[in-house]
Amino acid sequence: MTVIDTVELEPAHAEIVKATLPLVGAHIDEITAEFYRRMFGNHPELLRNLFNRGNQAQGAQQRALAASIATFATHLVDPELPHPAQLLSRIAHKHTSLGVTAEQYPIVHENLFAAIVAVLGAETVTAEVAEAWDRVYWIMADTLINMERGLYSAAGVSDGDVFRRLRVADRVDDPSGTVLLTVAGADWPHFVAGQYVSVGVTLPDGARQLRQYSLVNAPGADGLTFAVKPVDADGDHPAGEVSNWIRANVAVGDLLDVTVPFGDLPTPGPAPVVLISAGIGITPMIGMLEYLLAQAPDTDVQVLHADRSAAGHPLRERQRELVDALPSATLDVWYEDTTGLLNLDEVTLPADAEVYLCGGNGFVQAVRRQLTSRGIPAARVHCELFGPNDWLLD
Ligand SMILES: Cc1cc2nc3c(=O)[nH]c(=O)nc-3n(C[C@H](O)[C@H](O)[C@H](O)COP(=O)(O)OP(=O)(O)OC[C@H]3O[C@@H](n4cnc5c(N)ncnc54)[C@H](O)[C@@H]3O)c2cc1C
Ligand code: HEM
Repeated sequence: MTVIDTVELEPAHAEIVKATLPLVGAHIDEITAEFYRRMFGNHPELLRNLFNRGNQAQGAQQRALAASIATFATHLVDPELPHPAQLLSRIAHKHTSLGVTAEQYPIVHENLFAAIVAVLGAETVTAEVAEAWDRVYWIMADTLINMERGLYSAAGVSDGDVFRRLRVADRVDDPSGTVLLTVAGADWPHFVAGQYVSVGVTLPDGARQLRQYSLVNAPGADGLTFAVKPVDADGDHPAGEVSNWIRANVAVGDLLDVTVPFGDLPTPGPAPVVLISAGIGITPMIGMLEYLLAQAPDTDVQVLHADRSAAGHPLRERQRELVDALPSATLDVWYEDTTGLLNLDEVTLPADAEVYLCGGNGFVQAVRRQLTSRGIPAARVHCELFGPNDWLLD
């Protein structure tokens, strides 16, 4: 993870931000709802072609952006608090995976500040208050812009130029219903285990929607392989748009828009590794196991996986094969319909392990709490979330 020095706020601005943080915090959901309403009203193409409209429909993304700014402001006014480096790194990798560029930051700024005035009122957002929060925004934006430039440059692409049209070289339908696709012909040299690509598809209504998929093959192999689990409809929740479109439409020989890989999970080994996943959260763990088998097979590896049922367990066979092929690896699996939920109390963890965690937000939060109560320092727990991160204020 990149460690970033942040510029400090001037004392006068820090005082104002400190005094108004509770007010902004109390109205954060209204501010961000108003912000997105304005921004997508002024720039409809951003919702159609860049932002994830499934996340927008659920409000998850709105909360993530707002919470991240409040978390960052909290750090600026109290530098004793832990530096939000992990938060910034996650956002920067997500942004680069979508091709976000510096030119777009003024659009977010303009609409966000108009929303703050609309919600809190011009009598509260005086010129001084606006100026102080402006500084917070631009310190955070400049930090992200610099990190994103660094990531583009490290990947060998010009800013925002992340999509490549690649040919689908292989498609395998896993018994769990998950679709494995391999695309070939990428012009970038390597990726790191646990990274993801964004895939862009044009849906039947003409919208171009982007989604992220973690790589499940070993770095250095030909092509990039990712696994897409179609999201079924469930009660009030409609079926996932992109995942089902991919399952129904993508065949060997087709061209698919796929980005350069990004993502900041640290490379596993040589310290003991614990991989904990639920459902389709298995994908980065398969990438890690493939890497370990190819590059560091003597690493101690403990794999823990939770799923609804054996039948729905994605990449089940490959997970078993990889664990069997690694001389110091073990596998424990929990199925909700037979053996119940994953319970860390039943597991002995190596004291010095690096823990990798991936699944839905509820699962990741619950396991993180269990790990903390077992005395595992947060710095040794590395999470990947498949939805926007909504626990940033924790
Ligand atoms: C870093 C990262 C790595 C990932 N890796 C993988 C991976 O390896 N494999 C994988 O399969 N996925 C992965 N994902 C998840 C993936 O990116 C998609 O989110 C997933 O495929 C669902 O996309 P979708 O378009 O099918 O669903 P969407 O259409 O985006 O829907 C998502 C959810 O929102 C709900 N929703 C949508 N609209 C509404 C509405 N109007 N009202 C209520 N609910 C609504 C849907 O019911 C569904 O539950 C990853 C995500 C991230 C961020
Ligand atoms: C200081 C300014 C900004 C902040 C603080 C910010 C913050 C965030 C956060 C916290 C996320 C969610 C990350 C995650 O947990 O997955 C995110 C995602 C995203 N951001 Fe930004 N962002 C900023 C600027 C921008 C700009 C300028 C754009 C481009 C117009 C942009 C486009 C996006 C998109 C498209 C996503 C993914 C949304 C999704 O898939 O649901 N952001 N941003």
